[in-house]
Amino acid sequence: MGNTNTDKKPLDVLILAAGLGTRMRSNLAKVLHKLDGRTLIGHVLRTASKLEPRKIYSVVGHQRDDVESEVLRQIEASKAGFVIQEKQLGTGDAVNSARIHLENEDSILLVLSGDVPLINAETLSSLVDQHSKYKGGVAACTILSVELDDPTGYGRVVRNEGEFARIVEQKDGNEEELKIREINSGIYCFDTKKLFKALSKVQNDNAQGEYYLTDVPGILESKGEAVSIYKHDDKSEIEGINSRIQLADMEKILRQKTIEKLMSEDGVTFVDPDNVYISADAKIASDTVIYPDVTIEGETQIGANCVIRSGTRIADSKIGNGVTILDNCVITNAEVGDNCNVGPFAHLRPAARMEEGSKVGNFVEMKKTTLGKNSKANHLTYLGDATVGENTNIGAGTITCNYDGKNKHATEIGNDVKIGSDTMLVAPIKVGDGAATGAGTVATKDIPANKLAVGHPARAIKTLMKEE
Ligand code: UD1
Ligand code: MG
Repeated sequence: MGNTNTDKKPLDVLILAAGLGTRMRSNLAKVLHKLDGRTLIGHVLRTASKLEPRKIYSVVGHQRDDVESEVLRQIEASKAGFVIQEKQLGTGDAVNSARIHLENEDSILLVLSGDVPLINAETLSSLVDQHSKYKGGVAACTILSVELDDPTGYGRVVRNEGEFARIVEQKDGNEEELKIREINSGIYCFDTKKLFKALSKVQNDNAQGEYYLTDVPGILESKGEAVSIYKHDDKSEIEGINSRIQLADMEKILRQKTIEKLMSEDGVTFVDPDNVYISADAKIASDTVIYPDVTIEGETQIGANCVIRSGTRIADSKIGNGVTILDNCVITNAEVGDNCNVGPFAHLRPAARMEEGSKVGNFVEMKKTTLGKNSKANHLTYLGDATVGENTNIGAGTITCNYDGKNKHATEIGNDVKIGSDTMLVAPIKVGDGAATGAGTVATKDIPANKLAVGHPARAIKTLMKEE
């Protein structure tokens, strides 16, 4: 995309995100509520970025520090602009707060709502296109509208002989107007200079005592400016979130779409499709079977022929082919190689890496640790800041004591090692290839290759023969 940039006038985006969202009945700013694991404003920013605008301004007010940090997590700081709206006096006032930044710009301003998260980048691109080429010139304003079976709550688009006349808000509409099913999506393109000129004329003599941005198109129209309507046919894209019920409904619709696509296009089996939570950004390959009550978040990738049992949550992780993950595992920012076995009750924390064919069993926790090919840690173990080689067995109850109260230290365990049950490896420490420890060993010093170490503190007592 980004072909919008080749139009003569540069494109800027303004996202309205200052409101508290009273109808959410929340202490959290509405745009910070999450849909499909991503904040509402995060969705809008991601979509807006695809148009490659010159700058994306966000109008912030309620919890502005939190909203600003969320914006900066999502887009480059050089592209982000912030506009503060001290008091939420309405959407018109919100845009007006950006006056000093924008009123003299010879640009196209795309206005988006922080609470309309599913709008599609292609749709916005078409909106900008129509706006730029309306009746041979650039329109003063183009409104994105859609027809709804139940338009309750939205502003209505009033037409006169098919052409735009004005927008009427739900609370201000008369009986006739409220019958109109074509609604204002809250998404518009403006000629920036004309927008700010018209905004000066907006009054707050309406049912809500607010300055409505929705008055601007009508003002422009009455001055003979070109106001066009881009009527879109996919109503799911323009749905606004004003309440938790709407948020939950949208979450459900998104989830269903994701799961249907995974079943019909990608060949994934869901034992109970109504009882799984899969992020729209996740990728799952064919013949993987997912049991009820599984949650898959973020940009997780799961290979083919895997089995994932109930109660497991996987976030932003990469799972290979042929992996079995038993019940009640938590896997975050981790990597699991082909044909591994995980769980039940395993915890793979950030930077845990299981190489091909390795196994992690019940009550095992791994953090910043690589478990080599075909190695096993089957029971009751903590592996942190460690590397474990190939074909090594970590006995039940083993702990890498990686933290001395101040710093974290590394443990290195070689290939073909046998760590006995209940071994404490006090890091920093290295255990050489082919070495072993006896049960209950507390190892404070490196254990050389092929040595058996026992005791507390452990001493190397003898050299191991190949068959031992
Ligand atoms: C708005 C439109 C309505 C449209 C609907 C689409 C107006 C007056 N009405 O109504 O025509 O059908 O969106 O979803 O614009 N905001 C601020 N500052 C404010 C007020 C709001 O930044 O002072 C922000 C909110 O945080 C929100 C967005 O503007 O992200 C829209 O505000 P909201 O109160 O939800 O407007 P709606 O009643 O939905
Ligand atoms: Mg709204």
